[in-house]
Amino acid sequence: MIRRGNPAIVLAPMDGVTDWVMRRLLTRLMPFDYCVTEFIRISGVVPPEHVFLRDAPELNRGSVTESGVPVGVQLLGGDPERLALSAQRVARLGAPVIDLNFGCPAPTVNRHDGGATLLRYPDRIEEIVRAVRQAVPAHIPVSAKLRLGWDDPRAIFLNAERAERGGASWITIHGRTKVQGYTPPAYWEPIGEIRKLLSIPVIANGEIWSVDDLLRCIDQTGCEHFMLGRGALSRLDVVAGCSRALGATRGERMLHGMSEPLSWSFVLGELVTLSREAGESERRTLARMKQWINYAHRRGDAPWFSSVKRLIQVDEFLSLVAAQSVGPDALCTLAA
Ligand SMILES: Cc1cc2nc3c(=O)[nH]c(=O)nc-3n(C[C@H](O)[C@H](O)[C@H](O)COP(=O)(O)O)c2cc1C
Repeated sequence: MIRRGNPAIVLAPMDGVTDWVMRRLLTRLMPFDYCVTEFIRISGVVPPEHVFLRDAPELNRGSVTESGVPVGVQLLGGDPERLALSAQRVARLGAPVIDLNFGCPAPTVNRHDGGATLLRYPDRIEEIVRAVRQAVPAHIPVSAKLRLGWDDPRAIFLNAERAERGGASWITIHGRTKVQGYTPPAYWEPIGEIRKLLSIPVIANGEIWSVDDLLRCIDQTGCEHFMLGRGALSRLDVVAGCSRALGATRGERMLHGMSEPLSWSFVLGELVTLSREAGESERRTLARMKQWINYAHRRGDAPWFSSVKRLIQVDEFLSLVAAQSVGPDALCTLAA
């Protein structure tokens, strides 16, 4: 899955965004090599199987998305024993990878001893990784997703070393501290320094929005594995471009079977089809579409978003998005 000499583009877990419907769609449209579920919080008790199957229904289908992309299951919590038992349960359900979240900056999560809070306790990171590693069969990789630190970016050096010592098969590093939140830039240089110190693969993450960004990230980190989140959502062709830049062949054979570039109209049409197939309400589907386009809009793309964002009917929304291909004037007229 993630191994040296086998470059990979990974779809970032994004809570509230990359649920199984989006994973199904994004891995069908874009040449991702691997993806990870949104975090599943392990607090007071070990969740029953149905919780894992609800959040990772791919477990029922060989733990891959419809296009065959493996889906790792991400756990978040601070209690080694409960995390280990949860990992055991999810491994029995067929998870191909257990990923541990040491990066979530949400205050509610941090208050309850999970996510980025643990970046202040390297011993606990090691203890958690070790407990989970020992709880699941050796063929199932255990990975860790870290930020650079809580407030000190140098913390990553000890934390990464401890994750490796605990038995992590690879780590992903989001190049920012918890305190830096999501404010640009992401700092890639420390990721490269750590990569040189560890013997496990390192996935570089943060602020890769274009192929140029990827090339700069390669330059600064020397990594061969990259995780893309918001960039993949805001530029429809960036994953294919990055995949090609990495020399992977997947970028060449567009998985959706079309040779022309992806258009908003096409991808949102697909999203509506899959959301309806999943039995989602029209309201939820509409919210998903707006959330997605908003990522592009915030980066200065999809300037027509303002013309569609107040619409309340899915089909009307789709027609207007399709109309944007005939020019913004047409859109304004339709929206009036
Ligand atoms: C809305 C949102 C939800 C996120 N949820 C998770 C999560 O569940 N687990 C996790 O490890 N990271 C989560 N992240 C962090 C991303 O995986 C990624 O590290 C971050 O967005 C930086 O990558 P990017 O610049 O490519 O978006 C989330 C980020 C966003 C924006």
